[in-house]
Amino acid sequence: MASVTSLTASVHARLSAALTSALPEAAGADPLLRRSDRADYQANGILALAKKNKANPRELATQVVAQIENGGLLADIEVSGPGFLNITVSDKAIIETLAARYADGARLGVPPKDKPGVTVIDYAQPNVAKEMHVGHLRSAVIGDALRGMLDFTGEQTIGRHHIGDWGTQFGMLIQYLIEHPGELAPADEVDGEQAMSNLNRVYKASRAVFDSDEEFKERARKRVVALQSGDEETLRLWQQFVDESKVYFHSVFEKLDMEVRDDEIVGESAYNDLMPETARMLEESGVAVRSEGALVVFFDEIRGKDDQPVPLIVQKADGGFGYAASDLSAIRNRVFDLKATDLIYVVDVRQSLHFKMVFETARRAGWLTDEVTAHNMGYGTVLGADGKPFKTREGETVKLEDLLDEAISRAAEVVREKARDLTEEEIQERAAQVGIGAVKYADLSTSPNRDYKFDLDQMVSLNGDTSVYIQYAYARCQSILRKSEGDTPVAHPELELAPAERALGLHLDAFGETVFEATAEYAPHKIAAYLYQLATLLTKFYDQCPVIKPRPEQDVVENRLFLVDLTARTLHKGMALLGIRTPERL
Ligand code: ARG
Repeated sequence: MASVTSLTASVHARLSAALTSALPEAAGADPLLRRSDRADYQANGILALAKKNKANPRELATQVVAQIENGGLLADIEVSGPGFLNITVSDKAIIETLAARYADGARLGVPPKDKPGVTVIDYAQPNVAKEMHVGHLRSAVIGDALRGMLDFTGEQTIGRHHIGDWGTQFGMLIQYLIEHPGELAPADEVDGEQAMSNLNRVYKASRAVFDSDEEFKERARKRVVALQSGDEETLRLWQQFVDESKVYFHSVFEKLDMEVRDDEIVGESAYNDLMPETARMLEESGVAVRSEGALVVFFDEIRGKDDQPVPLIVQKADGGFGYAASDLSAIRNRVFDLKATDLIYVVDVRQSLHFKMVFETARRAGWLTDEVTAHNMGYGTVLGADGKPFKTREGETVKLEDLLDEAISRAAEVVREKARDLTEEEIQERAAQVGIGAVKYADLSTSPNRDYKFDLDQMVSLNGDTSVYIQYAYARCQSILRKSEGDTPVAHPELELAPAERALGLHLDAFGETVFEATAEYAPHKIAAYLYQLATLLTKFYDQCPVIKPRPEQDVVENRLFLVDLTARTLHKGMALLGIRTPERL
């Protein structure tokens, strides 16, 4: 069995531990070690500790310097300013520590966390019979990345695709289908595109009759009642809309290179049976009250126009349940049946008030306790190049598939331009990985709560903070490794490192900590930033430190190949966490 390397295997963690034990009051004091421009690291924690102990910070810092156990880790340590420590680590420590991580294989020396919980993550939740839009793209991309990150840290994740598969619009749709049979083909006879075009046609046609024909409207209304009371034929037709939509959803997710499991598509309707009980429990406990016939929850702090309280509607006056009742019931299911310790909802920030009210209601009801966190990762809007919400020139929402296809074809241009030894088939395969990677990366590299511009030219650019740039860095590593045939990567801790090697090595060292920090904060953009920086450092290294041409000493060749291989593995792993492929050749 491979030995389990711990996170303390990073230089950063080893240094932090050495500092902590050199502090007079070891217990609990954090040396606050950060990468720095002046030396490799700066420790700022002594200031706070001195303040707490009413000591002189410079004296305390000097004491720490005298006390610290070197253990081959340090090249230089000095007190600076009011009581900071500037620390330079030894070249040997860098390579030695990286070598241990390298030997660890796929996890790259990053151990799973001690106490994993169960995170239920609600993401990629389009609506039945409707086209997916760029907002759904964000939810899918961010959710999938978060899930990759959480899984890697050892967390157990359960996906929930809370699709919009219930509501009064189904009365209209089903009634239309009854009156125009054959408008939807059986789900197993259509591909994604056909499915969506059928659904679109039915949606538009039924909406037109609904808006113009009062009698149809009435029949549609009755159909809603039939659906809610479980009429078999009505349910069968409803199921047909759901199945046909799933064909379409799956085709989009497949194009997005994303796994969406059928058993995790648990839409709004899945909680229908729980909803009456949810309402009863809320009413009996007094969390919800009757107001004008409806069952609602009020919140002191949430007020709308004229300072009127805005309620959450659990049950409408006509007895119907809606979006909130479904989400409240889903919480019960996720906490009590799935045993979730953490709930994440990757949903447009415009629904943040809804989630605020839902979470607060669930807390009052005792369904969410201090042991369970609930978090709405509200993402911002996708903007067009003009800075306005992304629309077609005609002002319609952009079809997701068209958008992805365009990204892929732009990527094909880029790949073709650079490709020397690629066949047309290989170009197309790379183009998909580059194009979809570009779309995902553009989304993930900005903090999720911010809006971002959907700018394909920028996204597939080879220069700048793009996935293509990172993918090229990876492909370059692979090309170096291929060309080095006779030589193998071997770490040589005894060698003195060039500045570009040290910089690359120290950044590689930070991978584990970065992943844990980004995951704990649900911040994929921190991983993206890390990878971009890594690719940049690789480029510098490549410019300044020849690996095989012109050929340095044998041990230098091997050590550089080692750095290149570890960089490649780290880029690959990091991108995989975000759901982005790294082709071997570009
Ligand atoms: N289907 C909804 C929409 O398109 C998103 C569902 C979000 N998840 C939830 N549990 N409410 O806006």
